[in-house]
Amino acid sequence: MVCLGNICRSPLAEGILKEHCKKKNLNWVIESAGTAGYHVGSAPHNQSQKVALQHQIDISEQRCRKFVKEDMDRFDLIFAMDHQNYIDIKQLSEEKWDTNKVKLILNEVHSIKNKDVPDPWNGTDKDFLYTFQLLEIACESIMNNYCAFE
Ligand code: 4NP
Repeated sequence: MVCLGNICRSPLAEGILKEHCKKKNLNWVIESAGTAGYHVGSAPHNQSQKVALQHQIDISEQRCRKFVKEDMDRFDLIFAMDHQNYIDIKQLSEEKWDTNKVKLILNEVHSIKNKDVPDPWNGTDKDFLYTFQLLEIACESIMNNYCAFE
């Protein structure tokens, strides 16, 4: 799961998808990262932690890291939160770029095409809730699209 800062959107996506996997006893390796290094080592944004906890998901242990090109080898799928993340992942991946692995996360939802998950950074609790709800739908779709054990 990749966004710009790895403190608002992608930690939520990581937390939500991990919760799905826990419920289904799946041992998927799920991580998140940012294309920028502004917040490396920091915990997720307070408002992301808050909205996650309101939905019984604890993301407080996560720590921000920057996307590295080796992630392209380590993961089968890489979900970008928005179009700019996609472009930045491509640039950071250099020779390791694999177009088949990188997806816009909302494209997993069949009724949504080529839309961005809005960045709630500097936004209200309502903005963080909207982001959470979009990511819930996206992660539900990821389970439907890639999990054979329904
Ligand atoms: P994120 O949000 O990409 O969803 O984690 C942001 C976090 C930090 C910044 C921008 C967006 N920033 O400019 O520091």
